[in-house]
Amino acid sequence: MKLLKTLLATAVAVSAVPAMAYEAGDIMVKVGAVQVTPKDGNADTSPVTTIKVGAPDKSELDIDSDTQLGLTLTYMVTPKIGVEVLAATPFEHTAEIDGGGADGAEILTTKHLPPTVSAQYYFMDSASPIQPYVGLGVNHTFFFDEDDTGVINSKGLKPSWGLAYSLGVNYDINEDWLINAAVWKMDIDTEVKGGDADGLEVEIDPTVLFVGVGYKFGL
Ligand code: NI
Repeated sequence: MKLLKTLLATAVAVSAVPAMAYEAGDIMVKVGAVQVTPKDGNADTSPVTTIKVGAPDKSELDIDSDTQLGLTLTYMVTPKIGVEVLAATPFEHTAEIDGGGADGAEILTTKHLPPTVSAQYYFMDSASPIQPYVGLGVNHTFFFDEDDTGVINSKGLKPSWGLAYSLGVNYDINEDWLINAAVWKMDIDTEVKGGDADGLEVEIDPTVLFVGVGYKFGL
Protein backbone atom coordinates (compact mmCIF):
# COMPACT_ATOMS: atom_id res chain seq x y z
CA MET A 1 0.00 0.00 0.00
CA LYS A 2 2.82 2.32 0.89
CA LEU A 3 4.55 1.39 -2.37
CA LEU A 4 1.34 2.03 -4.34
CA LYS A 5 0.96 5.46 -2.71
CA THR A 6 4.57 6.30 -3.55
CA LEU A 7 4.09 5.14 -7.15
CA LEU A 8 0.89 7.16 -7.50
CA ALA A 9 2.53 10.25 -6.01
CA THR A 10 5.47 9.83 -8.38
CA ALA A 11 3.16 9.37 -11.38
CA VAL A 12 1.22 12.54 -10.47
CA ALA A 13 4.44 14.49 -9.96
CA VAL A 14 5.93 13.27 -13.25
CA SER A 15 2.77 13.94 -15.28
CA ALA A 16 2.34 17.39 -13.70
CA VAL A 17 5.89 18.54 -14.42
CA PRO A 18 5.87 18.61 -18.25
CA ALA A 19 2.58 20.54 -18.33
CA MET A 20 4.00 23.29 -16.07
CA ALA A 21 7.43 23.39 -17.68
CA TYR A 22 8.65 26.19 -19.87
CA GLU A 23 9.37 24.95 -23.36
CA ALA A 24 10.85 26.43 -26.50
CA GLY A 25 7.99 27.88 -28.54
CA ASP A 26 5.87 28.86 -25.53
CA ILE A 27 4.14 32.20 -25.77
CA MET A 28 3.03 34.24 -22.77
CA VAL A 29 0.57 37.10 -23.07
CA LYS A 30 0.30 39.26 -19.96
CA VAL A 31 -2.11 42.11 -19.26
CA GLY A 32 -1.96 44.42 -16.27
CA ALA A 33 -1.27 47.83 -14.81
CA VAL A 34 1.97 49.53 -15.81
CA GLN A 35 3.31 52.60 -14.04
CA VAL A 36 6.02 54.92 -15.38
CA THR A 37 7.75 56.93 -12.64
CA PRO A 38 10.41 59.37 -13.94
CA LYS A 39 13.48 59.93 -11.79
CA ASP A 40 13.66 63.09 -9.64
CA GLY A 41 15.03 66.27 -11.24
CA ASN A 42 14.68 65.73 -14.98
CA ALA A 43 16.49 68.83 -16.23
CA ASP A 44 18.30 71.91 -14.98
CA THR A 45 15.99 74.75 -15.98
CA SER A 46 18.03 77.45 -14.17
CA PRO A 47 19.32 79.09 -17.42
CA VAL A 48 15.74 79.44 -18.72
CA THR A 49 14.14 80.67 -15.48
CA THR A 50 17.05 83.05 -14.78
CA ILE A 51 16.21 84.87 -18.03
CA LYS A 52 12.46 84.76 -17.26
CA VAL A 53 12.83 85.96 -13.68
CA GLY A 54 15.55 88.51 -14.60
CA ALA A 55 17.81 87.48 -11.69
CA PRO A 56 19.91 84.40 -10.79
CA ASP A 57 17.37 81.62 -10.34
CA LYS A 58 17.85 77.97 -9.42
CA SER A 59 15.23 75.56 -10.73
CA GLU A 60 14.80 72.10 -12.15
CA LEU A 61 12.20 70.23 -14.14
CA ASP A 62 10.00 67.59 -12.51
CA ILE A 63 7.89 65.12 -14.46
CA ASP A 64 5.05 63.28 -12.74
CA SER A 65 4.22 59.56 -12.96
CA ASP A 66 1.37 57.86 -14.81
CA THR A 67 -0.29 54.43 -14.82
CA GLN A 68 -1.78 52.80 -17.92
CA LEU A 69 -2.91 49.43 -19.25
CA GLY A 70 0.17 47.36 -20.12
CA LEU A 71 0.68 44.34 -22.33
CA THR A 72 3.69 42.07 -22.61
CA LEU A 73 4.24 39.34 -25.15
CA THR A 74 6.98 36.77 -24.47
CA TYR A 75 8.28 34.13 -26.85
CA MET A 76 10.44 31.39 -25.33
CA VAL A 77 13.33 30.70 -27.72
CA THR A 78 14.58 27.97 -25.36
CA PRO A 79 13.19 26.91 -21.91
CA LYS A 80 15.55 29.50 -20.36
CA ILE A 81 15.69 32.33 -22.91
CA GLY A 82 12.75 34.51 -23.84
CA VAL A 83 12.17 37.54 -26.04
CA GLU A 84 9.68 40.05 -24.64
CA VAL A 85 7.87 43.03 -26.08
CA LEU A 86 6.34 45.59 -23.71
CA ALA A 87 3.49 47.75 -24.99
CA ALA A 88 0.96 50.01 -23.26
CA THR A 89 -1.80 52.51 -23.81
CA PRO A 90 -0.31 56.04 -24.08
CA PHE A 91 1.17 57.58 -20.93
CA GLU A 92 0.47 61.21 -20.13
CA HIS A 93 2.88 63.31 -18.10
CA THR A 94 3.07 66.90 -16.89
CA ALA A 95 6.41 68.68 -16.56
CA GLU A 96 6.64 71.50 -14.05
CA ILE A 97 9.28 73.84 -12.67
CA ASP A 98 10.56 72.92 -9.21
CA GLY A 99 12.21 75.71 -7.19
CA GLY A 100 13.10 79.33 -7.93
CA GLY A 101 10.78 82.14 -8.94
CA ALA A 102 8.67 79.98 -11.27
CA ASP A 103 8.20 77.16 -8.74
CA GLY A 104 5.14 75.03 -9.58
CA ALA A 105 4.67 76.45 -13.10
CA GLU A 106 3.47 73.75 -15.48
CA ILE A 107 5.37 74.08 -18.74
CA LEU A 108 4.33 71.07 -20.79
CA THR A 109 2.05 68.06 -20.92
CA THR A 110 2.90 65.25 -23.29
CA LYS A 111 1.83 61.76 -24.19
CA HIS A 112 4.37 59.07 -24.97
CA LEU A 113 4.72 55.43 -25.85
CA PRO A 114 7.81 53.51 -24.71
CA PRO A 115 7.82 50.19 -26.64
CA THR A 116 10.61 47.97 -25.28
CA VAL A 117 12.08 44.72 -26.63
CA SER A 118 14.14 42.61 -24.22
CA ALA A 119 16.06 39.35 -24.16
CA GLN A 120 15.33 37.48 -20.93
CA TYR A 121 17.12 34.79 -18.99
CA TYR A 122 15.16 32.44 -16.69
CA PHE A 123 17.56 30.96 -14.17
CA MET A 124 15.33 28.44 -12.33
CA ASP A 125 14.71 24.88 -13.50
CA SER A 126 12.15 25.02 -16.33
CA ALA A 127 9.67 22.92 -14.27
CA SER A 128 9.57 25.41 -11.37
CA PRO A 129 6.20 27.16 -10.87
CA ILE A 130 8.13 30.25 -9.74
CA GLN A 131 10.15 31.73 -12.59
CA PRO A 132 12.28 34.76 -11.84
CA TYR A 133 14.07 36.34 -14.80
CA VAL A 134 16.41 39.15 -15.76
CA GLY A 135 16.27 41.06 -19.01
CA LEU A 136 18.28 43.42 -21.14
CA GLY A 137 16.63 45.35 -23.91
CA VAL A 138 16.18 48.40 -26.04
CA ASN A 139 13.58 51.09 -25.49
CA HIS A 140 12.25 53.53 -28.05
CA THR A 141 10.17 56.37 -26.68
CA PHE A 142 8.31 58.84 -28.84
CA PHE A 143 6.28 61.82 -27.67
CA PHE A 144 3.06 63.14 -29.16
CA ASP A 145 0.14 65.47 -28.35
CA GLU A 146 2.62 67.82 -26.66
CA ASP A 147 0.78 70.73 -25.13
CA ASP A 148 2.97 73.70 -24.24
CA THR A 149 1.49 76.03 -21.60
CA GLY A 150 3.34 79.08 -22.99
CA VAL A 151 6.07 79.37 -20.35
CA ILE A 152 8.84 78.14 -22.69
CA ASN A 153 6.97 78.02 -26.04
CA SER A 154 8.49 74.66 -27.02
CA LYS A 155 7.70 72.72 -30.16
CA GLY A 156 7.78 69.34 -28.44
CA LEU A 157 10.30 66.67 -27.45
CA LYS A 158 12.74 64.59 -29.49
CA PRO A 159 12.28 60.80 -29.57
CA SER A 160 14.67 58.66 -27.53
CA TRP A 161 16.52 55.35 -27.88
CA GLY A 162 18.05 53.74 -24.80
CA LEU A 163 18.81 50.57 -22.87
CA ALA A 164 16.31 48.91 -20.53
CA TYR A 165 17.26 46.59 -17.68
CA SER A 166 14.53 44.41 -16.21
CA LEU A 167 13.73 41.98 -13.43
CA GLY A 168 10.56 39.97 -13.11
CA VAL A 169 8.90 36.90 -11.73
CA ASN A 170 6.16 34.64 -13.05
CA TYR A 171 4.13 32.46 -10.74
CA ASP A 172 2.31 29.64 -12.51
CA ILE A 173 -1.19 29.18 -11.04
CA ASN A 174 -1.76 26.20 -13.33
CA GLU A 175 -0.46 25.09 -16.73
CA ASP A 176 -2.19 27.97 -18.56
CA TRP A 177 -2.45 30.91 -16.16
CA LEU A 178 0.20 32.85 -14.30
CA ILE A 179 0.66 36.04 -12.36
CA ASN A 180 3.56 38.36 -13.08
CA ALA A 181 5.36 41.30 -11.52
CA ALA A 182 8.17 43.07 -13.35
CA VAL A 183 10.28 46.19 -13.11
CA TRP A 184 12.33 47.94 -15.81
CA LYS A 185 14.88 50.68 -15.40
CA MET A 186 14.84 52.55 -18.70
CA ASP A 187 17.30 55.09 -20.06
CA ILE A 188 15.03 57.69 -21.69
CA ASP A 189 16.70 60.98 -22.55
CA THR A 190 15.07 63.63 -24.71
CA GLU A 191 15.61 67.22 -25.76
CA VAL A 192 13.26 70.19 -25.96
CA LYS A 193 12.65 71.35 -29.54
CA GLY A 194 12.29 75.08 -30.21
CA GLY A 195 11.20 77.95 -27.96
CA ASP A 196 13.06 79.48 -25.00
CA ALA A 197 14.44 76.10 -23.81
CA ASP A 198 15.53 74.85 -27.26
CA GLY A 199 18.08 72.04 -26.86
CA LEU A 200 17.44 71.58 -23.12
CA GLU A 201 18.38 68.01 -22.25
CA VAL A 202 15.71 66.17 -20.27
CA GLU A 203 16.56 62.90 -18.54
CA ILE A 204 13.40 60.97 -17.77
CA ASP A 205 15.14 57.66 -16.86
CA PRO A 206 12.02 56.12 -15.32
CA THR A 207 11.33 53.08 -13.22
CA VAL A 208 8.55 51.09 -14.87
CA LEU A 209 6.45 48.71 -12.77
CA PHE A 210 4.10 46.06 -14.14
CA VAL A 211 1.70 43.80 -12.25
CA GLY A 212 -0.58 41.56 -14.24
CA VAL A 213 -2.03 38.21 -15.14
CA GLY A 214 -0.76 36.06 -17.99
CA TYR A 215 -1.79 33.20 -20.23
CA LYS A 216 0.76 30.71 -21.52
CA PHE A 217 0.33 28.51 -24.56
CA GLY A 218 2.58 26.50 -26.85
CA LEU A 219 3.04 26.69 -30.58
NI1 NI B 1 19.51 58.84 -19.09
